[in-house]
Amino acid sequence: DSQTERANKLPIPPLLDDKNPEEGKAEFDLNVQYGKKEFIEGQETNTLGYNGDYLGPVIRVDKGDDVKINVNNGLDEPTTVHWHGLEVPGEMDGGPHQVVDPATSWQPHFTIDQPAATLWYHPHLLHKTGEQVYKGLAGLFYIEDEQSKELDIPKEHGVNDIPLVIQDKRFSDNGEMPYELNMRDVMNGFLGDTVLVNGAIAPELDVKNEVIRLRLLNGSNARSYDFNFSDRSAFHQIASDGGFLETSIEMNELSLAPAERAEILVDFSDYRVGDEIVLRDGNDEVMKINIVEESTDSSDIPESLVDIVEYDREEVVKTRRFVMSGMGPMVAINDKQMDMDRIDEHLNLNELEEWVISNDSAGMGMMGETPHPFHVHGVQFQVIERNGVEPPLNEQGWKDTVMVESGEEVRILAKFKQKGLFMYHCHILEHEDAGMMGQFLVE
Ligand code: C2O
Ligand code: CU
Repeated sequence: DSQTERANKLPIPPLLDDKNPEEGKAEFDLNVQYGKKEFIEGQETNTLGYNGDYLGPVIRVDKGDDVKINVNNGLDEPTTVHWHGLEVPGEMDGGPHQVVDPATSWQPHFTIDQPAATLWYHPHLLHKTGEQVYKGLAGLFYIEDEQSKELDIPKEHGVNDIPLVIQDKRFSDNGEMPYELNMRDVMNGFLGDTVLVNGAIAPELDVKNEVIRLRLLNGSNARSYDFNFSDRSAFHQIASDGGFLETSIEMNELSLAPAERAEILVDFSDYRVGDEIVLRDGNDEVMKINIVEESTDSSDIPESLVDIVEYDREEVVKTRRFVMSGMGPMVAINDKQMDMDRIDEHLNLNELEEWVISNDSAGMGMMGETPHPFHVHGVQFQVIERNGVEPPLNEQGWKDTVMVESGEEVRILAKFKQKGLFMYHCHILEHEDAGMMGQFLVE
């Protein structure tokens, strides 16, 4: 009935108010706080959130903006806020060194100097990232620019431009969401049995029968997804982690590793009022999309999107290798575990580098074989090879996280345009927290 439908409506994280009315400037307040939320009817769950009970608002800025953010920590424990995918100086990055103690504030400020993209923010406290993200600390960070404003794509937040933060949880009998790792979680990362979208279980989204833009974030601690629609209908990916692709790519299935984002356009113009389509992970329902109104709009899927200048491999100054190995608490990169006082790699500003990232877990036997999504801070990179061949089309755009399956080798090109100390790590948060992380200094 309509009562349950209403209760089950997809929550849309609000756009965060920009307190600075000046053109070219933006200022935001972000309060880290405790919350309570009813995920399951009649049961209250203790959570964490930014400016609310669970997850955070969407921070939206323009390219070129001078941005200031007031992060106020209202928790009884320290936290940090990392801007995942943003190219900002190391001391503004919000990694494990920028600790915000309880009842104190941190005011990062930076200039947005990268193309339109769907990025995100989340805590990055050493050994605590998994737990703090799991309890609800995560939000989206949109950059807009001239191209994103000019492109003929849906732009109405929550109407036809829909943020989808997808996470998996395990609820206890009393409705709590304890972060307790079993043996399997310690090995492969935390895997839940219930999928949430924007903090709701199997929610429903009402749309018109027109082109709808979905901005997907895999905000899960460890789970990867293979998204498809119940009627196997095609959709078009238009953006990867760090911005628009050169052309829209038609596909029937989209894989997203932890921390990866994708923007897709789905054309519902052939559907009728009353139709429903299920967004699935494999065969499992994630959420439902209801066509509730006839559209008067006739927008299409644009074919060509933006120009991406490809890095020239001939200009590579330095090649580095990163071998991910070990299992459970022993996971490591280049046989080392995270040490806050050790700098693992020294880089020069604005030099093109080739990073060869491999996953050596195949030799560990069944238990050890695990995928490792590799993330680099402070940069958007280009994937040039996956196991010796060109990567799939939807990986040929700006990326900040790349999946490296057991036994795989991925090559990326990156130019580091910001100074300071940054992290690289596996984005399975239980691996990161176990020490599968290293530091590099750009000077
Ligand atoms: Cu999304 Cu180092 O993090
Ligand atoms: Cu890993």
